[in-house]
Amino acid sequence: MAESVAFTENAERSLIYKEIAPQIAALVEGESDIIANLANIAAVVKETLGFYWVGFYVRKEDMLVLGPFQGTVACTRIGFDEGVCGYSYTTKETVIVPNVDDFPGHIACSSESRSEIVLPIRRKDGEVFGVLDVDSRQLNDFSEKDKTGLERIVAIIETKVL
Ligand code: SME
Repeated sequence: MAESVAFTENAERSLIYKEIAPQIAALVEGESDIIANLANIAAVVKETLGFYWVGFYVRKEDMLVLGPFQGTVACTRIGFDEGVCGYSYTTKETVIVPNVDDFPGHIACSSESRSEIVLPIRRKDGEVFGVLDVDSRQLNDFSEKDKTGLERIVAIIETKVL
């Protein structure tokens, strides 16, 4: 297993997503522990793309509970009807929030976070395992390119990690 990740610094994000996807696939290959793999994936995304916060919330009974992440201390439990994470979990859709102040019920774990994207992670039976949450200090920081790039990473999680 490679112990570092290679990427083009300051490149356009689309290129970085393209560069890191196969490395993430290689990183999780041969490791069966979900927590270890999700922790490394959060680290790769944070290190290469420089977002403010990158992490997972995992469904435990009737809540989403904080999983592996990179960034500042975050809220530990989110209801299915709460926040952007709950909305993505319930609708099973990727949600892009250009301005967190405009999202009704947004949970402000940090006042630094200004925009975010949340992607559902589905198990093979179609149920949602949890979500990938990425936060930025910049307003309107996420586009369709991030959606495509991060969905590629989620697809690796769904096929190789869960
Ligand atoms: N903002 C999220 C909560 C999680 S933190 O941003 C890490 C939400 O509204 O669901």
